[in-house]
Amino acid sequence: MKLCVLNGSPKGNKESITMQYIYYSERLFPKHNFESINIGQILNNMKINDKRFKTIIQQIKSADGIIWCFPIYTTLVPAQLKKFIELLFEQDKNPFQDKYTICLSTSMKFYDMMAHNYMNAVCEDLGLKYVGFYSAHTFDFLEFKYRRKWYTFLDYFLNIIGEQQQITKRYLPIKDREFAYNPEMDSNFKKINNQEKKIVILTDYSNNDTNIAKMIEQFKNCFTEKIIQYNINKENIKGGCLGCLKCGLDNQCVYKDDFCQLFQNIKNSDILVYAGTIKDRFLSSQFKMYFDRCFHNGHTPSMEGMQICFLISGPLSQIANLREWIAAMVELGYANLVDIVTDEYEDSKIIDRLIRNMAKNAVNLNERDYSSPSTFYEVGGYKIFRDMIFGLPGAIFRMDYNFFKEREMFNFPTRDWKGRISRVFLSFLLKSKKIRKKFKSNLPYAMTAAFHKEMNEIDFVNELAQIKQEINV
Ligand SMILES: Cc1cc2nc3c(=O)[nH]c(=O)nc-3n(C[C@H](O)[C@H](O)[C@H](O)COP(=O)(O)O)c2cc1C
Repeated sequence: MKLCVLNGSPKGNKESITMQYIYYSERLFPKHNFESINIGQILNNMKINDKRFKTIIQQIKSADGIIWCFPIYTTLVPAQLKKFIELLFEQDKNPFQDKYTICLSTSMKFYDMMAHNYMNAVCEDLGLKYVGFYSAHTFDFLEFKYRRKWYTFLDYFLNIIGEQQQITKRYLPIKDREFAYNPEMDSNFKKINNQEKKIVILTDYSNNDTNIAKMIEQFKNCFTEKIIQYNINKENIKGGCLGCLKCGLDNQCVYKDDFCQLFQNIKNSDILVYAGTIKDRFLSSQFKMYFDRCFHNGHTPSMEGMQICFLISGPLSQIANLREWIAAMVELGYANLVDIVTDEYEDSKIIDRLIRNMAKNAVNLNERDYSSPSTFYEVGGYKIFRDMIFGLPGAIFRMDYNFFKEREMFNFPTRDWKGRISRVFLSFLLKSKKIRKKFKSNLPYAMTAAFHKEMNEIDFVNELAQIKQEINV
């Protein structure tokens, strides 16, 4: 059988950790032919010439099965692979139609499922028969039990191809629609004074006559002063993240371009607006390149205290994974998501009002210094980072280590001596049948006792005055 391996790692075939699984498979499945293509490295500058692209298409066409092999980058596939996927969607004839496929990734298991959800949907959109994914931890390969697991998975995949099995589908195709947004000014709308606010828009549009360009203009029209705007396509950014990890020690990127300056310019905004058009099932690969390159800032929040707004052109409500990605990305950045306005309403007046409301609310929330409480996205995410940075990777990600230490984020429960001693003491008491019985009958009250006590002690008049003073109302 001929298997075409599409390697999305910008590090190339030899230095990619993920690709080690393929070299291993070549040894264990000698009858099969694995043909690897260095997609990530070829597209490091986010470009590929026609001739090379056509050769790759021919290689894909002649394969019996496709293995997408990639590291997880910023909770998705690397920007370079995303760009390749965008180019595939531009093809008249689909080279993948009805071919069987699997996805293989390595990562620190930080939001790996988001990347696989994305790939699952994209594979189905490309007409592939998506069999499943194998998400390995970066260091799994070093243990026999995981190599055996991978062997079993690949063998299972080869059997499915051999038997030409029918495959279940998970995603509905995206329903496209034509809608031209025509913004209107509202003479009754009082423009918002933004003299003392730093408001930045980050976009990637290349045509003024698009919905997203018009949505941006409408947002800008809400304010008295000029809004700063950066267009990723117009900035001097030489390419996607190379995955070299050299930034870990000092937050310096190896690229000699303007990305880090752009990142700094955006970093201390009060309000940041991401404005882009959906391409396949995410924002564009240019936007993805921006997010990947933010990796030079390490595993620390990059939008702390900011109000984040999204303007999106495209079918966001049909892509739950992207919506979740946005919510997670904002939380992990220690920022607050004000709203996401899309052009899906197909009614310009509604979109106008939503944009104005978002502008007003962003300023309001900024003035009150509001940030929504964290959910699993942030709590779970930072626990993974914490454990990683505390271990060996902390030596490479030195800046992250210092940050976590300074903020007292190495807050392992093992260090909670009071809690641990109380647990041992309570466990000992609960060995007694009599105490256990009493404990069970008192449990609901015991859980809320501290809350009732606190509620009784609150001085509501003073507390309300203090809150109002602190949030300036
Ligand atoms: C820019 C960048 C972003 C990353 N983002 C993630 C991530 O979101 N989740 C994760 O678990 N690992 C992430 N990683 C870690 C890589 O996925 C991991 O090191 C992988 O094993 C590298 O595979 P490769 O050697 O095949 O490129 C990231 C690494 C880099 C360089």
